[in-house]
Amino acid sequence: MNAKTQTQASAQINIDGKDLQCPIIEGSEGEQAIDIAALRKETGMITLDNGFVNTGSCQSAITFIDGEKGILRYRGYGIEDLAERSTFVEVAYLLIYGKLPNKAELEEFSTGLTNHSLLHEDMIHLFAGYPSSAHPMAILSAMTCSLSTYYPKSYDTPDDEQVDLDIIRILSKLRTIAAFSYKKSIGQPLIYPDNSLTYCSNFLNMMFAVPTEPYEIDPDIVRVVNQLLILHADHEQNCSTSTVRTVQSSGASIYAAISAGISALWGPLHGGANQAVLEMLNGIQASGDDYKSFLTKVKDKKTNIRLMGFGHRVYKNFDPRAKILAQSCEKVLSKLGINDPLLDLARGLEEEALKDEYFVSRNLYPNVDFYSGIIYKALNIPVDMFTVMFALGRIPGWLAHWKEQRDSGAKKIFRPRQIYTGANEQEYVSIEQR
Ligand code: ACO
Repeated sequence: MNAKTQTQASAQINIDGKDLQCPIIEGSEGEQAIDIAALRKETGMITLDNGFVNTGSCQSAITFIDGEKGILRYRGYGIEDLAERSTFVEVAYLLIYGKLPNKAELEEFSTGLTNHSLLHEDMIHLFAGYPSSAHPMAILSAMTCSLSTYYPKSYDTPDDEQVDLDIIRILSKLRTIAAFSYKKSIGQPLIYPDNSLTYCSNFLNMMFAVPTEPYEIDPDIVRVVNQLLILHADHEQNCSTSTVRTVQSSGASIYAAISAGISALWGPLHGGANQAVLEMLNGIQASGDDYKSFLTKVKDKKTNIRLMGFGHRVYKNFDPRAKILAQSCEKVLSKLGINDPLLDLARGLEEEALKDEYFVSRNLYPNVDFYSGIIYKALNIPVDMFTVMFALGRIPGWLAHWKEQRDSGAKKIFRPRQIYTGANEQEYVSIEQR
């Protein structure tokens, strides 16, 4: 593997006649960055980069994206290959431990996931405390942080075995929490994990089985769930992953960091977009709008309406995950014999947007969320669980980044600066005189 290198080249910043030479760092795929670590010390200035559009926050060997060419690779392996040939558990191992597992490693990892799927029984009572209308992302985030209270050894531990155990616990138990939060929301009895089932089958069983009758797990559906989770498993320094790294940098527990990642993912501009896509499609259908008039509203900036599931900070050509999911979506709907008018609407929107000057000139293409919502709907997963599905997929990525940063030994807390724009010094005025 090519490691990052410091090139011979440097960038020169000239401020008021004073020069600063900044080294240029090159990554293993040729991406280059100007290292400005000495900037403030030497010049007293900082950089200002709203939304971190031009800012690299770390060096990472986990995931490579080329947004212009539509490339996504985990540890060097193309997403298309992994989605076609791998399983979610194998991809989780790959992301976290940096290599594809051999048979023995995969078996040990899978057995760990099977053995750690139960929640402490006291935690079951916590579910009862939430209203039945509680959003499952709120429950998932809160319960994940609560796990830290049951595993206090996780607090900034130097013990690698303890970390591996916490990783297994998080991967396994969050799946149980997700399914339990759904059962709680519909008032059905909790279905406990079943050790005879694989990772994704176990999840489907906990979600959809009921004690009164057998539930048959369809292997084709298990395959699609594996694929969905694989496609969401990592995406380098996105909002939630940066959040996980930020929390890790403070030395907080791994459970606290993952809980923070879940909260960051929840927003509609990030993981919440899959729910927003379906709500948008339902809204268009209910209003009787056709997709053309909806797009006219989107293009009118005064409406503040966005075409959800379109656009991406990094992909400016196409999102390779959306390409894979568009095909899977067709397969799932035809396998389940579903003729969904929402899919026709989605197709119409996509076709029209892709030839519209507004979207073409801004490089706006369907992202992974555009089709995932329709697949989840076909699988009977309720709309407010969509983002939870995204979170379950993203757990290995968060864990891999948490571990990479921890193992690097870097003890630098993430602490951006700011340009202050508030009031200048004022004298305190007592309340009687205000
Ligand atoms: N619909 C309409 N216009 C859009 C959209 C959209 N979905 N996305 C971007 N634009 C427009 C913006 O209005 C802006 O136009 P302007 O140049 O005339 O002001 C231009 O395209 C650039 O948009 P930014 O918001 O600056 O792009 P950014 O890279 O910051 O945002 C984002 C990316 C948040 C994904 C954005 O495209 C968006 O809001 N998309 C819809 C939500 C969505 O699908 N999110 C999922 C992202 S993928 C993920 O998290 C898995």
